[in-house]
Amino acid sequence: MDWGMNNRISRMIKPSTGRTVMLACDHGYFMGPTHKLENPRKTIEPLLPYADALGVTRGVLRTSVDPRADIPILLRVSGGSSILKEDLSDEEITTSIKDALRLNVSAVALSIFVGSSHEKQSLINLSKLVDEGEEYGMPVMAITAVGKELEKRDAKYLALACRLAAEIGVQMVKTYYCEDFTRVVDGSPVPLVVAGGPKLNSVEDVFNLVHNALEDGAVGVDMGRNIWQNENPVAVIKAIRAITHENANAKEALQIFETEKTDKAKRVANPARL
Ligand code: 5RP
Repeated sequence: MDWGMNNRISRMIKPSTGRTVMLACDHGYFMGPTHKLENPRKTIEPLLPYADALGVTRGVLRTSVDPRADIPILLRVSGGSSILKEDLSDEEITTSIKDALRLNVSAVALSIFVGSSHEKQSLINLSKLVDEGEEYGMPVMAITAVGKELEKRDAKYLALACRLAAEIGVQMVKTYYCEDFTRVVDGSPVPLVVAGGPKLNSVEDVFNLVHNALEDGAVGVDMGRNIWQNENPVAVIKAIRAITHENANAKEALQIFETEKTDKAKRVANPARL
């Protein structure tokens, strides 16, 4: 692998642990000002110190992230459909590799919709992006999107989608955790990170998901709503960091979460003393 490509990946997947906590804040590209991401800067800023990479579009990057921030950027470069459409799979490449380079990002990300009405279009989009990425040393992440069909998130489907992306030549894939996830990992010769999906019932569920995904072979998470839609987003991401980089289990993560939550409540109640 070329030095530039390798260097960009190493900024996101930390060489010390071989793992990563990516913070996904790119939902506005098809969801608009979704709950708790209405003001991207307000959501993103407190979480940045605990993220290994930040996933955003160029619009949010330019308007809502301090260019002096020391955070590798995973740039969302696909789009074209909104939540108003039943079928979300009609996407194209929305951002040029030239702009990605100008923004000094560490990787570009694009959704593929395997099995959808625009399957071929999304796979060809990915192939073009990989060709350009190879030319400029820019890693490409495929996102195995399921649109509104959340029930597609099973090992058989995800193993197929991840493998297709790997065969096209991506450097990493974002997918979903599922039962029998090792089947997805085993079929993918490139590293996988997992998304969180819609907000789960409890933080215990989130920590179990992260722990199990890592145990089964994911190299990390690229998670959004289960972090920033929580009332205590910093506490959630700190706990996820401990699972990812310090091998904490879900119970230990919960303790970290509760401690951080209590400390925050004390800071709010008595800002002068702490
Ligand atoms: C939006 C995305 C998100 O980045 C991805 O789904 C991760 O976020 P979440 O954990 O909220 O699912 O690709 O299209």
